[in-house]
Amino acid sequence: MVFYFTGTGNSLYAAMTIGAPLQSIPQVLRSGKLDFTAETIGIVAPVYGHEIPPMVKEFLRKARFHTPYFFMVLTYGNRHGGAAELAQQLCQDCGIQHSYINVLLMVDNWLPSFDMEEQMRLDKQVDAHLAQIAADIAARKHWIAPVSESDRAAHREFLARSAQMPAGAWQHLIQVSDRCIGCGICQRVCPTSSIKVRDGRAIPIPGNCQTCLFCVHNCPQMAIGLTIPEKNAKARYRNEHITLAQIIRANEQTDPSGSCESPDQTRPGTRPAGPTACSPLYPDEPVTRRPAACP
Ligand SMILES: Cc1cc2nc3c(=O)[nH]c(=O)nc-3n(C[C@H](O)[C@H](O)[C@H](O)COP(=O)(O)O)c2cc1C
Ligand code: SF4
Ligand code: SF4
Repeated sequence: MVFYFTGTGNSLYAAMTIGAPLQSIPQVLRSGKLDFTAETIGIVAPVYGHEIPPMVKEFLRKARFHTPYFFMVLTYGNRHGGAAELAQQLCQDCGIQHSYINVLLMVDNWLPSFDMEEQMRLDKQVDAHLAQIAADIAARKHWIAPVSESDRAAHREFLARSAQMPAGAWQHLIQVSDRCIGCGICQRVCPTSSIKVRDGRAIPIPGNCQTCLFCVHNCPQMAIGLTIPEKNAKARYRNEHITLAQIIRANEQTDPSGSCESPDQTRPGTRPAGPTACSPLYPDEPVTRRPAACP
């Protein structure tokens, strides 16, 4: 049994290669049935800010796993920052007995720092590493990917910069342009109902946005951009082995209220500042791109 979280398909491709049956974390969380028993249970998810995404953390905290072999594979694009050790700590905090945690370098989908065209040209040896990971798991290997002091230092620095951010700043990361045709794909790939189509146009709904960029990468019109500079606003990414239909199936949520109201409690006139080019969310943004005033 393999649980996955994905927005551009890297983690789904890895999960499909490693094993079956597959279950999407947003869908399982929505079902509310969170007690699982199997010979092998695994999590495949991206690294966000050196850690697993908030929704995956929520899943680990709420679910109960009964298995003699629990593994995690974390896909990342540039620097994992000790993700395996941080995931190991989270497992311990959640009372999960883990057997194997590894990291897998793939295309980096963080648009403020990376040009998707350049990323797709890089040979990151994904299939060779993935085959090794799949073989490890089939052999029920016990192992945690090593973490260096510089990984730990990078994460500490990231946390220090994050602490200086105004609360809720990242809730205003995305914006919709006039190219929007109201097709609703962004709404269907969003795991938290944080973008909706109303009167033929998509509207971001701040409050619970995961800043995952699923909507941005999957918009067929490239009508969703960022409120901070992008490396290449004309390039978007989806893993070559994964279809849009698979991303939709993984993430689509129905909103029982049908409401487009923002869950953001901010009063008019007190809207938190949006992110700036120097706001840390992705830890390794090139320093040269930040304005002089940035910490
Ligand atoms: C919000 C966010 C934060 C990210 N943080 C990191 C990071 O700290 N280190 C890294 O190497 N990649 C980071 N990435 C890149 C993704 O981990 C990577 O592209 C991943 O394989 C995407 O998986 P997916 O295609 O299954 O969504 C980040 C991406 C996003 C959207
Ligand atoms: S996917 Fe793009 S074009 Fe379609 S509704 Fe969303 S923003 Fe508009
Ligand atoms: S609205 Fe936010 S949570 Fe939803 S897909 Fe876009 S970035 Fe992710």
